[in-house]
Amino acid sequence: MWKYLRKYWLFFLLAPLFMLGEVSMDLLQPRLMGTIVDEGVLGLSNGGVGDMALVVRTGLRMIGLVLFGCFCGVMSGVFANLCSQNFGNDIRKDVFRRVMALSFEQTDRFSTGSLITRVTNDITQIQNLVTQCIRGFVRTFLLFAGGIVCMLSLHMSFGVVVACAMPLIVVCIVFFIGRANPMFAVLQEKLDRLNNVMQENVSGTRVVKAYVKEAYEKERFGAANGELVSTQLKVLLLFSYMTPIMNIILNVSVVAVIKVGAVRVGAGDVTPGDVMAAVTYISQILNAVMRVNMIFQTVSRGMASGRRIGEVLACAPSIVDGTFAEDTAVRGKVEFRDVSFSYPGMGGERVLSHVNLTIRPGETFGILGATGCGKSTLVNLIPRFYDATKGQVLVDDVDVRDYALRTLRDKVAVALQKSEIFSTSIRENIAWGDPNAPEAEIRRAAGVAQALEFIDTKADGLDEQVAQGGHSLSGGQKQRVAIARAILKNAEILIFDDTTSALDLKTEAKLYEALKSGYAGMTKIVIAQRIASVKDADRIAVIDGGRIAACGTHEELMADSEIYRDIYDSQLKR
Ligand SMILES: Nc1ncnc2c1ncn2[C@@H]1O[C@H](COP(=O)(O)OP(=O)(O)OP(=O)(O)O)[C@@H](O)[C@H]1O
Ligand SMILES: [Mg+2]
Repeated sequence: MWKYLRKYWLFFLLAPLFMLGEVSMDLLQPRLMGTIVDEGVLGLSNGGVGDMALVVRTGLRMIGLVLFGCFCGVMSGVFANLCSQNFGNDIRKDVFRRVMALSFEQTDRFSTGSLITRVTNDITQIQNLVTQCIRGFVRTFLLFAGGIVCMLSLHMSFGVVVACAMPLIVVCIVFFIGRANPMFAVLQEKLDRLNNVMQENVSGTRVVKAYVKEAYEKERFGAANGELVSTQLKVLLLFSYMTPIMNIILNVSVVAVIKVGAVRVGAGDVTPGDVMAAVTYISQILNAVMRVNMIFQTVSRGMASGRRIGEVLACAPSIVDGTFAEDTAVRGKVEFRDVSFSYPGMGGERVLSHVNLTIRPGETFGILGATGCGKSTLVNLIPRFYDATKGQVLVDDVDVRDYALRTLRDKVAVALQKSEIFSTSIRENIAWGDPNAPEAEIRRAAGVAQALEFIDTKADGLDEQVAQGGHSLSGGQKQRVAIARAILKNAEILIFDDTTSALDLKTEAKLYEALKSGYAGMTKIVIAQRIASVKDADRIAVIDGGRIAACGTHEELMADSEIYRDIYDSQLKR
């Protein structure tokens, strides 16, 4: 945290300094009040004759001090907030940057809900912690220490009351704090869970409604919410016992000060004004100690949050950037050398095993196979969404792990299986990878993707706004926008991960034809379930259970591969 606070050291110092001014004014007031009573009203040094002029003068001084104290308080608040808000802003940006750099596997491990809580609520908690440290803590300490000094300077015998009350309060605080401390980390976890349920429901609202699962989801949300509330209640209940106990100690102490004061007034050691001042001081001292409880709550929560933020910041991205950023002699070649892969947390169960495959530059390469056989996993290794567990993936004869990620990902354009559409215009969705692309380029890419035919029927054409999640477009329209986006990137390697599944066969055929004639040099990797989608590819690989079962042209496979023939028969033979 210090690393982030250092930048704002001036605010960090000014806030407590002004707080010192504010507290000093608070500590001066009881003394002046004592003077008013002793000299102005009782006239102790004037034979019992009061002095109205002194009352007015001292009163005005008190008002002046209050105003100065207010000014200091405001300034202290301003600097403390400047410090904590800027500090939080910096951390939030860094955490967000780190979240962006995490690999899919790492994001999955944290869970989306938890990452959202960490970037929002947890940051707020550590901002509160900083404010509390430079304001609350300083104020409490100064009031406590200053109060004791001021009170003892009135008469040492008042020290007896402090000495008796203090251990009681400390025992009380330690007891409550010890019980509450572990609950704060739990509290943040419960909040994570709530956010996860909320996030899944909002993004999956269509499925929830389609299956009429509202009642079930309400119950799930209710359960998560209930757990949060009950933990929160436990913490609050604990502290609600604490306040009355502390108040009893405080009130008994005030009575004790009056008693001690009365004895001393009788002996002529102190004046009635001193006793009045001492009563105020003992309240200030014990109130300060009681504030430790609040400070502690903020510090505990802040530290729990700080640890959670630290976990994200300390999570080194598992996909580490390489350095290779030069031009390669070959362009558009992909090679898998004895590649095996298993997803983390799957206990080593292999999704791909011993895949050997070379895709040649400019080739149209089809990948076919049953659902769940590992097709998406295979192509996800090319732009390094995941790293191969064993073996090597090479793009243009360079290991993908050696590339600077930017260089590698510039070479590859992927249209993912689930079309991600952003809530902006169709134009911006297509030009996502190249926001400065000229209109003609965008229209050309949309034309090849067979998207123009529906874009031109929209009232605003390319500028038509898309609803969040692409819900204002049909499934096939979304796919075509995603395809146009990938084509516009004009990368060496173009990957369609089952992205034409929602297109009718005629549109699909037109798309591949346009792609073949317009982008001949591009390597095209096409994953499909339908044999018709890949039949005309230069070569086709059939994947079965994470292995390459066969590879060749349609004719070769029809002649040699039983699996391919089975698929063909089931889909095309009548
Ligand atoms: N992020 C993940 N974590 C754990 N397992 C996963 C993950 N993604 C996929 N799998 C598993 O890996 C296997 C292969 O998945 P993959 O997505 O590659 O299949 P696919 O061939 O693309 O299927 P489909 O045709 O349905 O898209 C499946 O059994 C799937 O359950
Ligand atoms: Mg897939």
